[in-house]
This record gives sequence, C-alpha cells and structure tokens, in this order.
Amino acid sequence: MMAEKTILRALKGEALPTPPIWMMRQAGRYLPEYRATRAQAGDFLSLCYNPELAAEVTLQPIRRYGFDAAILFADILLLPQALGADLWFVTGEGPRLSTITTQGDFDALKPASEVHDVLAPVYETVKILSRELPKDTTLIGFAGAPWTVATYMIAGRGTPDQGPAHALKAENRALFEAILERLVEGTIEYLSKQVEAGAECVKLFDSWAGSLKGEDFDRYALAPAKRIIAELKARHPGLPVIAFPREAGEKYVGFAKATGADCVALDNSVAPEWAAANVQIDGCVQGNLASSHMVTGGEALVRETQRIVEAFRGGPHIFNLGHGITPDADPENVQLMIDTVRATRA
Ligand code: CP3
Repeated sequence: MMAEKTILRALKGEALPTPPIWMMRQAGRYLPEYRATRAQAGDFLSLCYNPELAAEVTLQPIRRYGFDAAILFADILLLPQALGADLWFVTGEGPRLSTITTQGDFDALKPASEVHDVLAPVYETVKILSRELPKDTTLIGFAGAPWTVATYMIAGRGTPDQGPAHALKAENRALFEAILERLVEGTIEYLSKQVEAGAECVKLFDSWAGSLKGEDFDRYALAPAKRIIAELKARHPGLPVIAFPREAGEKYVGFAKATGADCVALDNSVAPEWAAANVQIDGCVQGNLASSHMVTGGEALVRETQRIVEAFRGGPHIFNLGHGITPDADPENVQLMIDTVRATRA
C-alpha cells in the first residue's frame, strides 16, 4: 500500500519530522518556463482557460523543485466572470471588471448553478493534473473567499484599502450582503466541481480579510468561510480545507475551530512563535516566510526559514510563504528555501 501523501497527513494533524512544502503562486512569472508558456497562450486569461497549457504551468514548479503539492493554475476572478461580470487584465496594472454597485447590476448576474459552462475548462485542467501529477504530490484546488472576490467586483479592480466595498457595505448593506451570498453559493458550486474532478484539498484565499474589523470580520470573513466549508464537507466527507484569512492578526486565534478549516495559512505579519502557541494549538498551520526573501536570498533567508521550521516543529505544519512569490524573485532562492527546510530535521 502506498503511504499517504505528506500534505494530507499534516492536514489531519500529524507533526512530521520535515514539514511538507509548496509555495503560493509557485507557477508564475519568476519562472522562465512559465513566461514561455504564457507567451504561447497569448494572455493570462487564455492560459487559465486552456486546460493543456494550464496543466503544463501547474506541473512546471513540480518538475523543477519537487514541491509536495501542486496548486491548480487558475484565478480567483474566474468565478465573477462565470457569474457574468466582464473581466480583463491590463498588462502591468492588474485585473479590471465591470462593476457591481446597483441592484440592477446585481440582478444581471447569473445564479450560482449556472457557472459551470464558463468554468468547465478549469475542471478539465484538474482532471489532466490528477492523471499526470507524481503519485506523492497533492493537488490543491482553490477559490477566492466571498469578501475578497466582492472587493474586486464592487470596485472593478484591485484597491489598496478596499474602499468601494466598505462604502457599499455602509450605504447599501442589503445589496452588499446579496453579493456575498451569491459568492458563497458560487464558491460552493465551483469548489465542489474541482473536488469531483480530482482536487484532494481546497484552499480559500481571503487576501483582504485584514481590512474587516471586529464584528465585520466575523460576519463577512468568518461566517462565509464556515458556510462554504460546512457544505463542502457535507458533499465530500473528509475533504481537507485550508483557509487563508490574510492579515487577520489576532483573529487568526480560533479561526480554524470557528470555521471548520483543517488548516489556517498564516501571512508573514505574525511571528511563528506566537502562531505556534496561539493558532497551531488547534491544528495544522501553513506558512509563513516573507516572500521578499525569494528576492533577497542569502543568510537571512536561511535563518528565517530555520526559525519557522523550529517554531512549528511540535505540531502539524506545511511550509509556505506568507503570500505569493513575486515576479522579481530569483528561482535559485526558492531552491535554497527548499534545501533549508529539507535539511532541518528533528
Ligand atoms: O498560486 C498559484 O500558483 C495558483 C494560481 C493563482 C493565481 N492567482 C495565478 C495568477 C492563484 C491561487 C491566484 C489567486 C489570486 N488571484 C488572488 C489571491 C491570492 C493573493 O495573491 O492574494 C488574488 C487577489 C488574485 C487576483 C489577481 N490575479 C490579481 C490581483 C492579479 C494581478 C496581480 C499580479 O500579480 O499580476 C492576478 C494575476 C495572476 N494570477 C497572475 C498569476 C500567475 C499573473 C498574471 C500574469 O501571468 O501576467
């Protein structure tokens, strides 16, 4: 019998002598082979919707580095597109969407049950990957969390402070909550199909959770995650879920228990020693090396990597960055991080 995959063991709560490792945005512009495939596809969205090429870029960092997990190559903004929003990417600037700010805009969206036609190529990518990945590599599917996706849908673009979404929440809470509700339902549909296609674990990216404070955090970050996770686990018993409420700060404490997540991903604003004492006590944690080390490398990279491995050694831990790797990262620093993690054994 084949031994269970290391990531799945960590997600079940096992403390491993060497933490399994993967990296957010591991398929990305810092890799020359990614840039070549992206050029072949044309633009970023054409790459996301081309199952053969999306599977190819997902596999590239697995071939180069032997990461313990592969994350499906797609984007959190494909779901709003499938709900009917226009989506395009402006080179050097980022995503643009048609905005949802009025009841009329909202009424034009499709119901959650109708997202699958647009997203079918993504499910096909998952199927190819579950055939082609090495047998010990875990396949992670993902979606954006409702709040984070809503911030892009309301503003029509990325925003430094999520101002337009906070403004809609203050001015028309019913409409704001209706958008979140549609996203909860759409996310359940989308992730459920990824699991049926072969994803072994799913991750919810709430990149802007940190801008929700107090009760807003509980209502719009925690509660939607809880509903999505409960429904996914009802449909797919035993499915492990990673939640990433980025920059949640002290709200990381108890987040896994409150939402039913098997693992929380930590950004690099929290000290690993604090997180070991306050968050890892409830189960698996993932993280949390600053992505800037992938640019700067050297002794500081080695020291911080060792510090994180040491801090989380007593419990279940998946090594990762605190956020996605950036295009200016040096691929050799990624190798140095992996070598350092795999050399620091108990
Ligand atoms: O992690 C992975 O390798 C899997 C693929 C993945 C991408 N985006 C590919 C991508 C994942 C998991 C995401 C998540 C995502 N997308 C998030 C949440 C995580 C986070 O980083 O906070 C967000 C907010 C988005 C939305 C998005 N997509 C933005 C704001 C941008 C533009 C900014 C940028 O980095 O250029 C993207 C584009 C994007 N998504 C790229 C990649 C590889 C770069 C596109 C390119 O090739 O030009």
